[in-house]
Amino acid sequence: MPQHLNVYCLPTLVAPEQLAGGTVVVIDVLRASTTIIYALEAGAVEVIPCLEVDEALRTAAGLPRSQVVLGGERGGLRIEGFDLGNSPLEYDPASVGGKTLVFTTTNGTPAMNQCRLAERVLIGAFVNAAAVVEQLAGSPPIHLMCAGSGGDMTRDDVLFAGLLVDRLQRRSATPWQLNAQAITARENWMASFAVPMAIGAERLPPPLLADQLRKSLAGQKLVSIGLEDDLYAAAQLDRFAIVPVLDTKRFRIRLRGG
Ligand code: MLT
Repeated sequence: MPQHLNVYCLPTLVAPEQLAGGTVVVIDVLRASTTIIYALEAGAVEVIPCLEVDEALRTAAGLPRSQVVLGGERGGLRIEGFDLGNSPLEYDPASVGGKTLVFTTTNGTPAMNQCRLAERVLIGAFVNAAAVVEQLAGSPPIHLMCAGSGGDMTRDDVLFAGLLVDRLQRRSATPWQLNAQAITARENWMASFAVPMAIGAERLPPPLLADQLRKSLAGQKLVSIGLEDDLYAAAQLDRFAIVPVLDTKRFRIRLRGG
């Protein structure tokens, strides 16, 4: 029996009901997914995604101040009154270790909200790609959901979805049934790195990947506000072995078993 593997280049390209019973990977490479992975790797206890700034402020106000960090962005920039923005490198043991991160971003948190009916929701980005593939082995229908940027597709997310499709196909003997967006995403990934792959460089050097991220819509927005360093933080392929999991009932993100 072929396993279903679907890519959605935008959250609006799939109805929440279609995700019921499946495993979803929420992808917002620049930058919500990447930042959540950095935060949990740095020792944050959990992440509470909030759709609105007011909701984030109210949620944080209900927790002991010394145990909470408010993070996120609007227009790519730190929100007034928040502790941190959405740059992955801001999230280190000193800023978030042992704390609860209350987090709101423009595209990433709404994409997570779209997955409430799914059986399992993982947070993926280049920095934890290998660990995500490991978690997906033997899963029921898999849906790779790209968050996009302001309602438009963005190449950083689609490239990462293509990498996952490629790696899943390579590691499994069972045939996959791909939707059209999955086929396109994989072809896009292969075409972008045809030369390094031809010489066997599966471990892409971060500057090479960052060059591709820079061409994306989300990458261009970051460059325009002086946050180009975030591209390099996001381009550290397979750097971390953790996979954040969204508990869809409590709407909290933790590491598996955490
Ligand atoms: C988001 O979730 O909207 C983003 O990651 C955008 C950003 O980081 O600027």
